Amino acid sequence: MRISVFGCGYLGAVHAACMAKLGHEVVGIDVLEEHIAMLEAGRPPFHEPGLPELLKEALSSGRLHFTTDASAAADATVHFICVGTPQKKHENAADLSYVRSAVGSLLPSLKPGDVVVGKSTVPVGTAEELQERVHEAQSGAELIWNPEFLREGFAVKDTLTPDRFVYGAEPTEQGRAAMAVLDEVYAKALSTGTPKIEADLATAQLVKVAANSFLATKISFINAMAELCEATGADVTLLADSIGHDARIGRKFLNAGLGFGGGCLPKDIRAFMARAGELGVADALTFLREVDSVNMRRRVRMVDLAREVCGGSIVGRTIAVLGAAFKPDSDDIRDSPALSVAAQMQLQGAHVTVTDPKAIDNAKKKWPDLVFVDGVEDAVAGAEAVLLLTEWPEYLALDPEELRQHVAAPVIVDGRNALDPVVWRAAGWTYRALGRP
Ligand code: UDX
Repeated sequence: MRISVFGCGYLGAVHAACMAKLGHEVVGIDVLEEHIAMLEAGRPPFHEPGLPELLKEALSSGRLHFTTDASAAADATVHFICVGTPQKKHENAADLSYVRSAVGSLLPSLKPGDVVVGKSTVPVGTAEELQERVHEAQSGAELIWNPEFLREGFAVKDTLTPDRFVYGAEPTEQGRAAMAVLDEVYAKALSTGTPKIEADLATAQLVKVAANSFLATKISFINAMAELCEATGADVTLLADSIGHDARIGRKFLNAGLGFGGGCLPKDIRAFMARAGELGVADALTFLREVDSVNMRRRVRMVDLAREVCGGSIVGRTIAVLGAAFKPDSDDIRDSPALSVAAQMQLQGAHVTVTDPKAIDNAKKKWPDLVFVDGVEDAVAGAEAVLLLTEWPEYLALDPEELRQHVAAPVIVDGRNALDPVVWRAAGWTYRALGRP
């Protein structure tokens, strides 16, 4: 099939490359010339495991191209909208300007039988607004919604072999025909039995924010339990293991620590609350305010813990931070809990040095006043406390005996409950963590 993908960020670039891998002819379109040039040269403008190899393979097959020229979509019949919907400045609501502008630039290219497929995470009601524009343009095209659930770090796998497909369409002949076209796009995964749910536009839009709200709630639930553990001397990791064995609860997304960040969970729960308010059902989501507060409190608690291990004050103390990305295997620093803690400590008078295997360049742009270095050894040199804030595998593999040689004081604070306290204590370290004695 001939496909266009509007937006070549974390979602769109991966989607475009994966669609080409499936045998489709794909053009990726974005307004950022620099990113398009990099993608066309086979270099993703962000870190995503497996993507560079996939991109090269797809480009050399001749089935994948990238351009800033929106009219290139005219050759395609299926058009995916994959642009970002960030949080608006000074508001909880989502900024829909990129989605509106992408659809606006696509309209002149649409022809009868074309299908516009929305993948961006949007407030419910957006698809209906965009559908109206597609219909008003008298193009003969139809818009459907097909939310994306990919996780950064696993984006290629999640796109090629997703847990499920959700389609949302209008209950009309055109809506049904458009869903059948999407079946052809995803024929490979569907043939292996991937579940598919056909729904209306509103449900399909809600599914995504409901899923992310559930995940955020699960993380904040266990982090709230961590607060209880801190007050009682209990261990939140044992608590999570114990309740996680109940199949109804499950152990996934019960890792207590510094909480969630990134470009999705924080802004999605806020945009969801804002939309619920507009719809007159704000009460239904007031619990998400608490989910957000529990999450933000973890960052404050981490700074307090740093103060505690430094003997009551961090003013003038040397602190090393391992991790800047919002999670491992990503260079994404959007709403990164690690950087938020690092910046707070610096504002409160500590000498903070941050390191990260992939995210330093991005972090420097956003936080130019923080000190960044490559490599753990340089980061921890002379440190009076080391804070593990993003659980990169290389940090989990650190040898505590060896690391001790470089620090001023062997004090480690595990912000992700990812290290083995027995091993670190046996190597002479003072080990502290969130929610653990
Ligand atoms: C999320 C959803 O998982 C994905 O389905 C959706 O499409 C986009 O948003 P992502 O933002 O890539 O994906 O990250 P995810 O793996 O969900 O982690 C989000 C944050 O939660 C990270 O900061 C992570 O460190 C944190 N987290 C995750 C926890 O603190 N504890 C956990 O148990 C799991």
